[in-house]
Amino acid sequence: MRMDHTMQRSKFLTGHRTDNWWIEPVLVLLGLSAFLAYATWAAFQGNHYYSISYLSPFYSPLIYIKSGVAGAAPLWHSLLGEWPSWWPGFLPASPALLILIFPGLFRFTCYYYRGAYYKAFAGSPPGCAIGVIPQKNYQGETWLLIFQNLHRYTMYIALLYIVILGVDAIAAFVHEGIIGLGVGSLILVLNPILLGLYTFGCHSFRHLVGGGKDCFSCSRSGAMQGIYKKVSWMNSNHKLFAWLSLCWVAFSDIYVRLVSMGLISDWNTWGV
Ligand code: FES
Repeated sequence: MRMDHTMQRSKFLTGHRTDNWWIEPVLVLLGLSAFLAYATWAAFQGNHYYSISYLSPFYSPLIYIKSGVAGAAPLWHSLLGEWPSWWPGFLPASPALLILIFPGLFRFTCYYYRGAYYKAFAGSPPGCAIGVIPQKNYQGETWLLIFQNLHRYTMYIALLYIVILGVDAIAAFVHEGIIGLGVGSLILVLNPILLGLYTFGCHSFRHLVGGGKDCFSCSRSGAMQGIYKKVSWMNSNHKLFAWLSLCWVAFSDIYVRLVSMGLISDWNTWGV
């Protein structure tokens, strides 16, 4: 297929734009690189992911738990019990490695992030109406773009994660059977809220709610129209919620990790 449009005719990184279009891709490059570096490091630690009643969202749900590790959750927290013997020895016994692929795939295939990291990491294009690296062999929608279609399916898993992290947030208000409140409780409760604002604003979710109708305003259901309007509002702020939820999930892990390591104290009503 021959590409013959304005971007292809402009030289790489050139165009008619006079604004500072490059700032956003640079910020995306730095922000996503920092998140990926930290999340990878944290996932490979396998320790200090639990403290008081706070569970790091990077490690939830806990499918297996390796007991006796510093900052590990109690074994009753595990869905399937003690860490399995079949786990390859060259990998750390980290519960995060079993589950992070799912939210990772959801983010990786998100329509917003795709546009953002194509610009920031691949310069394809670097910005709207800015010249791309010339592609001699453009072959249309091939392997990566077909793979990205997984997004509509990963969305269902992301919806499940909101429930799981919501349960974790409620559990963060109970310590040894006593209902209370800590700074960590508030941090962990904000996490599924921001995640919900991001996920319910997903383009695929919006399609699920009303996008399949030819004439949505013809629908008689006022409730559905109300839901569609709210989802559309979240969708129009999708970039904002994408970043807020991404930063907050990393911050939640950092907070739980620092409390678990004893480097900071959590203010709470339990006095622990
Ligand atoms: S489009 Fe971004 S989460 Fe679906």
